[in-house]
Amino acid sequence: MPQFDPKSLKTIGVFTSGGDAPGMNAAIRAVVRSAIHHGLQVKGIVGGYPGMVAGDFQPLSLSSMANIIQRGGTMLKTGRLPEFHQAEVRAAAIQNLRDDGIDALVCIGGDGSFTGAHLLWQEHKFPIIGIPGTIDNDIAETDLTVGFDTAVNIALDAIDRIRDTAASHDRLFIVEVMGRDSGFIAVDVGVAGGAEEIFIPENPATVDQAIERIKRGMARGKKSSILVAAEGHKPGRAYDLADAIRKKAGFDAKVCILGHIQRGGSPTAADRILASRFGAAAVDALLAGHCDAMTGIKGHDIVTVPFDKVIGFKKRVSPELVNLVRSLS
Ligand code: F6P
Repeated sequence: MPQFDPKSLKTIGVFTSGGDAPGMNAAIRAVVRSAIHHGLQVKGIVGGYPGMVAGDFQPLSLSSMANIIQRGGTMLKTGRLPEFHQAEVRAAAIQNLRDDGIDALVCIGGDGSFTGAHLLWQEHKFPIIGIPGTIDNDIAETDLTVGFDTAVNIALDAIDRIRDTAASHDRLFIVEVMGRDSGFIAVDVGVAGGAEEIFIPENPATVDQAIERIKRGMARGKKSSILVAAEGHKPGRAYDLADAIRKKAGFDAKVCILGHIQRGGSPTAADRILASRFGAAAVDALLAGHCDAMTGIKGHDIVTVPFDKVIGFKKRVSPELVNLVRSLS
């Protein structure tokens, strides 16, 4: 585990980065309150890496964390900054942090955000701990990320509603969920929502397989079906699937794209608890002199994993769950 001297630690900066995820506020709250409890000061970096480069920092107090644990989104705002790939942009960010008296960072975000954080340690020895926060759950070395449980439950609620209208009209629906590069949301929603088939980047069903399943259901009297598709690289992929199914089998499929609805709203209890545990663990890790690492959860245990074992590694969707969707449909 990379180490720094924690005796120099007086002020922690915290920021959210990449796509927002429900539970990020609970994580910020836990970082701020744990740090203050341990006698540290905390500053919020507003708007992620763009805010770091612009020097947009604000002091955070115990009371500024009141009434946010239940809120979706992120009170610190978030953003992506492609220019952070440039060394001089990172150097400017580090200068701003040092000028403002910030000694270490907690970064709440996904793989791309951690890549930037890792570079700040490698190039400038700036200590950072990451908290996995993304609805996609696609981060290696942690079973769960903050926001995933909420996103799954939002998508599931939508599917339950769609089922009512699908059954009333004897219709086929394709529901598109988020997940640019990964099918974790689609798989969980597929199992919990009783989908006929799921289309995910890791283990895509073919259109023929989906048609086959629909036909098998029809043969036993089933009149409505739900297919779940992960969005892939371009939202709207479900329309292409619907076209292909219509052309090959003559079935009319209605499409429902859930999109950013899955990223908003109040976090579930599971996400609030996970975020609170991660926030406290991130501060503990910094106080122990650990850095260039991420908090994670394995089973019921909170762990700290070096970024070297996380960044760029792919977490696999469970083949058991994928098979379960197919065997139970
Ligand atoms: O990474 C989280 C996520 O919501 C993905 O599921 C989705 O593909 C992407 O972000 C959408 O990004 P944006 O909000 O920039 O459109």
